[in-house]
Amino acid sequence: GPVLRELAAAKGVYYGTAVTASKLSGAYASLAGGQFGSITPGNEMKWGSVEPARGSYDWSGADAVVDFAEAHGQQVRGHTLVWHSQLPGWVSGGSWTADALRTVMTGHIATEAGRYQGRIDHWDVVNEPFDEDGTRRPSVFQTVIGDGYIEDALRAARAADPAAKLYLNDYNIEGVNAKSDAMYELVKSLKARGVPLDGVGLQAHLIVGQVPATLRANLQRFADLGVDVAITELDIRMPLPATDAKLAQQKADYKAVTQACLAVARCAGVTVWGFTDADSWIPDVFPGQGAATPYDEGLRPKPAYFGIAEAL
Ligand code: XIL
Repeated sequence: GPVLRELAAAKGVYYGTAVTASKLSGAYASLAGGQFGSITPGNEMKWGSVEPARGSYDWSGADAVVDFAEAHGQQVRGHTLVWHSQLPGWVSGGSWTADALRTVMTGHIATEAGRYQGRIDHWDVVNEPFDEDGTRRPSVFQTVIGDGYIEDALRAARAADPAAKLYLNDYNIEGVNAKSDAMYELVKSLKARGVPLDGVGLQAHLIVGQVPATLRANLQRFADLGVDVAITELDIRMPLPATDAKLAQQKADYKAVTQACLAVARCAGVTVWGFTDADSWIPDVFPGQGAATPYDEGLRPKPAYFGIAEAL
């Protein structure tokens, strides 16, 4: 059958997937390595995973994913250096001065991005900086350090790994809306001031039948600021049970998102947030919803998979 990574490469983009390191064997590994040209660790590079106690590191999961990608000739999206969630308690619960937290944050970036220097194609340097109304999310970084934490993080990432493409990443910025407007203004300001930034990631945790009509135009407006864009965490959930009608709509939706990326010259690629319904965060976080990925729980390709292949 079609091989997504080959079809994508022929179009000058990558098709990637998030993976779970502990599952990388057997049929799961064969599909992850065979079908996808880029790998994102779903959790293994988050701060809480790599430094659960201050100064005590566990790189086992992150190393396993990077090693897997290199063994399969794949790119790596590093995810993620600065995020309000899945932080170690010693960071989120600490009582910090601005200088102390900035030093800890940039030190974390130097340590992690430095460890993988030269091996990461794209880093999600800051994840989810905005609230839905376009104001800054009041993370510990925003609250303690202030607006400048984002450029501090980007400069630290550039210093640690000059070859990596540096991204800001968020959800619900796929269409033109208050949140994507805020990201647009931030990117414009960072670029105008010479802050190192290479791309914007649109997570794209979508709902069946609700691909934003403005997706393509929105990708293009970011590209016109002089940055790359990427779909970084695509999944398209539905109320369970899945039916043939819902799966057919999901196929059309996966196809439309893939076509939107292909239509924008600076769209680097698409990453699905788990390639199989057996490895998706959706049922845990959105009760009663699921079937959000291109392969079913038995690792059989769904209509969505063929929608992607048709678009490519
Ligand atoms: C999710 C993982 O898939 C889950 O396994 C974990 O329990 C929670 O985080 N936006 C992001 C991702 O940027 O890091 C999140 O990943 C999904 C939402």
